[in-house]
Amino acid sequence: MEELIERASRDLVNAKHAIALTGAGISTESGIPDFRGPSGVWTKDPEAERRAYRSYDRFLEDPGAWWEERLTAPSVLGSLEEAVPNPGHRALFELEELGVLKCVITQNVDGLHEKAGNKHLLEYHGSVSKFRCTACGLRFNQDAFDLAKLASENRFPPNCPECRGIIKTDTVSFGEPIPGDVARKSLEEAGKCDLMLICGTSAVVYPFASLPRVARGRTAVTIIELNAEPTPLTGEGISDYFIQGKTGEVLPRIAEEVKKIRKQV
Ligand code: APR
Repeated sequence: MEELIERASRDLVNAKHAIALTGAGISTESGIPDFRGPSGVWTKDPEAERRAYRSYDRFLEDPGAWWEERLTAPSVLGSLEEAVPNPGHRALFELEELGVLKCVITQNVDGLHEKAGNKHLLEYHGSVSKFRCTACGLRFNQDAFDLAKLASENRFPPNCPECRGIIKTDTVSFGEPIPGDVARKSLEEAGKCDLMLICGTSAVVYPFASLPRVARGRTAVTIIELNAEPTPLTGEGISDYFIQGKTGEVLPRIAEEVKKIRKQV
């Protein structure tokens, strides 16, 4: 483990455009369950996963009913408001502050990278703290709409104040297209990075899981995987090397090592 941490830190220091990709695994140490790990929400409740697969179709069929259901049904991830960033999130913020990490692309909707302070952040599957117009793509903070008032006046779904389009939560459901701005910028980052640090994802959900393959298409890229268990990226040799461990334990050690190496040069 020591050698791998040193190698990753050296690679990060030498990189010109390093980016990080993250998944639910980075937030488990903040008390938020992942999906497909040993105690993941889908692992424990396959029916909930099947319901999630039907959500977007239900939204398209009847957005008003979808909103009413959303107000009453608890989130599969539990309440995220109280969740706080853990040492893994904070280490990625530190690496951004040091100018080593140019961008974080996350699948997580929990907003913890934003809470940790990361500025160059792409929330690929959206954020629970935002709403989005499904027509013009504008995003809004939750307090832009008085949901209780809309519910009492039977005026669901909410409409976009700019274009009157239908408002949805910013979180991207299975089968829903990734918003164009995030998809485009993420592809650009995967196309120009010379180091990709992939943390806490099973790497089985597309199109996000195609980003490492886009980067692999170029030789001058180092792909480092940090996860509790191997993934298809490990098995298919997409990643150059794999660090098996907890993000909340390994990432702070990498950030420390990066600072140490920086001091030496
Ligand atoms: N450190 C490192 N790895 C961890 C940790 C940890 N502390 N905790 C869990 N893991 C690993 C798990 O073993 C698993 O391999 O992180 C991975 C998380 O994978 P998933 O649960 O599949 O989460 P993710 O890859 O983010 O899922 C992608 O699927 O359900 C949809 O929209 C949802 O964004 C999500 C997408």
